[in-house]
Amino acid sequence: MSITRIIIGQFDPSNGFGPANTSLALFGGKLFALYESDIPYAIKLAPNGDIITIGCHNFDGNLSINMTAHPKIDPNTNEVFAFRYDPILFPYLTYVRIHPNGVKSHDLPIFSMTRPSFVHDFAITKNYAIFPDIQIEMNLLGLITGGAPVGTNSRKVPRLGVIPRYAIDESEMRWFEVPVFNMMHAINAWEEDNGDTIVVIAPNILSIEHFLKRLDLVHAKIEQVKIDLKTGRVSRNLMSKRNLELACINRAYIGKKNKYIYAAIPDPLPKAKGVVKLDVSMLEIDQQPDCIVATRIFGPNCFCSEPFFVPKDHDNVFAADEDNGYVVCYMHNESTRESSFMVMDAKTHDLEIVAVVKLPHRVPYGFHGIFVKESDLNML
Ligand SMILES: [Fe+2]
Repeated sequence: MSITRIIIGQFDPSNGFGPANTSLALFGGKLFALYESDIPYAIKLAPNGDIITIGCHNFDGNLSINMTAHPKIDPNTNEVFAFRYDPILFPYLTYVRIHPNGVKSHDLPIFSMTRPSFVHDFAITKNYAIFPDIQIEMNLLGLITGGAPVGTNSRKVPRLGVIPRYAIDESEMRWFEVPVFNMMHAINAWEEDNGDTIVVIAPNILSIEHFLKRLDLVHAKIEQVKIDLKTGRVSRNLMSKRNLELACINRAYIGKKNKYIYAAIPDPLPKAKGVVKLDVSMLEIDQQPDCIVATRIFGPNCFCSEPFFVPKDHDNVFAADEDNGYVVCYMHNESTRESSFMVMDAKTHDLEIVAVVKLPHRVPYGFHGIFVKESDLNML
C-alpha cells in the first residue's frame, strides 16, 4: 500500500514516515515528537491545545534514518545525547550528540556492536554514555521473508558498553558482560569512586523470550549494576522482587547519583495497576532489600502507564529534597471508560492523590511523555 502511494505521488517518505508517538523531548528551542524508527518531528501547541506539526527535523541534513525516542538531556549543560540504530545495515548502532543550541555533531558509529541488537534506550553519566547489547535482535531474514522482524537470542550474553561522552571514535569504548541482563529502558546512571565505578539502574526484562508475544508472562525487576572500570568486575543488586517497569526520576538528577525512582506496576505491560516509589539508598543498608517505600494502587479496573516526576519548583530543584514534587500519570477506568490525569504527592508514604483532572479523551497505555512548563511552550 505504501509503495503504491509512493509511486503515485501520494506519499513522500523523505518527509518522514513514522507515527511520532513514542515520546517527546524539549531541546534546542524546539518540542519534538519522537519515534525510534524515524527522525524527530518538531511540533508546537496551538492556543486551543491542538498539536501543530512543524515538520520532520533532520538537523540541517545531519541526521539520517532515525533517532531514539529516549534522548538524554544533561540537566546542567542542556547537551543532548542520543543514538540511532539500523536494524539491517552495519554499523547497527550510531552515537549522536546535539549541542544545546540544537546543532548536531558528527555521527559516531559503534562498530563493536557486531549484531543487530534492539537498542531502545541508554544512559549517561557525567563522563560516559552506556549502551545495552541485549538478547533481542533484529532478524533480517524475517524482514525479507515477511516473518518476525525481531527475535530473541538466548545464547547471547548481554553486555553494557561504556564510551566516553565526548569520544571522537569508539577506541576507548569498553564492553562488560552482564549475564541475562536485558535492559530495555534505563532509569539512571552515575559515577562513584572518583569516576572508577559506573552505576546503572534499570529494569531487567526476565523471561525475555516472551517479550515479543506474551507481555503477560514478562516480569521485570529493577537492578543496580556496578561496573568497576579498574578491575572490570561487574556486581549486581536487586532493588525489589516486584514486577516493575516504565520508571522515572527527578530529571534534574539525570547522570547524577539519585535516591528516588517512581515505577509502574505492570498488569501486564504496557498497562499498570499502580505506581511505586523506590529508595536507592536502601541498597546500602540491606543486602537483600525491597527498596519500595510508597505504593499507590488505583483500584479495580483502573490502570495507568508510565509515571512522570514533576518538581514543585522547576527553577530551584536542588534547593529542595529530590522528592519534593509530584508524580503524575494518566489513569483509565476500564469500567466507566473515563480517563483522568492523576497528580500524587511524591513525598507521601502512599503517593497521596492531590488532584484528579478528567480528560476529554483516553490516552492509550504505553506512551512515554514529558511535563513541559507553560513558559517553555510559549517560547516555541
Ligand atoms: Fe520506551
